[in-house]
Amino acid sequence: MKKNNLRVLGIESSCDETAAAVVENGRVIESSVIASQVDLHAQFGGVYPELASREHVKAAYATVNEALQQAHMGLSDLDGIAVTRGPGLAGSLVVGVNLAKGLALSTDLPVIGVNHLEGHLYSAWLYQAGSKPSPEPKLPVMALLVSGGHTELILMRDHLQYELLGGTSDDAAGEAFDKIARLLELPYPGGPSIQKAAMQGNPRAFNFPKARLSEPWDFSFSGLKTAVLRAVEEFKATNKPVPTADVAASFQAAVVGALFEKTIAAAREFKVREIVVAGGVSANKALREAFRSQTEFRVHIPHFSLCTDNAAMIAAAGFRHFIADETSSLDFDVQANWPLAVSA
Ligand code: KG4
Ligand code: ZN
Repeated sequence: MKKNNLRVLGIESSCDETAAAVVENGRVIESSVIASQVDLHAQFGGVYPELASREHVKAAYATVNEALQQAHMGLSDLDGIAVTRGPGLAGSLVVGVNLAKGLALSTDLPVIGVNHLEGHLYSAWLYQAGSKPSPEPKLPVMALLVSGGHTELILMRDHLQYELLGGTSDDAAGEAFDKIARLLELPYPGGPSIQKAAMQGNPRAFNFPKARLSEPWDFSFSGLKTAVLRAVEEFKATNKPVPTADVAASFQAAVVGALFEKTIAAAREFKVREIVVAGGVSANKALREAFRSQTEFRVHIPHFSLCTDNAAMIAAAGFRHFIADETSSLDFDVQANWPLAVSA
């Protein structure tokens, strides 16, 4: 596919956000619409899968329509459709994938099924139309991918090439934030709640342990989670008020420290000059600050609004596939468990 301005419609429905976006040349956001179900799921303290699928069914068409309208475009202005194929909730993925296929069928546009994690990585390439272009990441980059389901260090030597250096065998970073928030009786989603509580707390109040791992680039947050649980239980057992802000701040500092130190060490080890930090947890202010305050590497962290799930990132990743002449046939299935890369 060779043309000057390639416009890709992105569709995302892997979890609890129905999203659609139009992105030009993999970088310029012409529109990005997100219908969030977060308030609906908050009452359950987490995502309720069947409810999520049904909400996607209701919101999908209007979301795509809105994205096209905001971009002042019709389907005929597009060059391709990118949709999240996985990983995610199967029943939710099906909704976006089927809509994308239906649109492709009726327009003859090419469609590509994109890995959601790949989307998160390509969010680092995006900027809003009409605003100053963000600096473009220069490959190779060391990518830290931190979301609700994944914590991975990925070496990207070239576009669409992902080498998995390490990950977690237990909780992902976002999951740890969500679980500790629940323990501290803070509202869902946990990440933003912990961040807010941590602002009033002392990050050095508790010295939570660092994981010792045999694999140098792996992460583990289960020991930390247990240590926080024990600390909270001690207060409760002695009828003392739990110092929520101090616990939140110390927990956040421990997670941020582990993520930051390992990413920097990996970038040094693999002699990479640029770092990408992406995924929901990259919205965390303390994490952003840690990476921003070092000067050894050029660091790319997406704008806040692009850290959590959105469709612009799916369109951005789709663009890279289209220019590599990769498309999906119309019979592709969703992949609820779909690793972006396997260890070398
Ligand atoms: O990427 P994302 O929106 O969805 C997945 O692909 O999983 O990530 C969601 C995760 C949740 O666990 C949420 O608690 C976390 O990102 N998160 C944060 C913050 N904002 C969202 N974690 C820490 N600090 C934040 N400000
Ligand atoms: Zn995500």
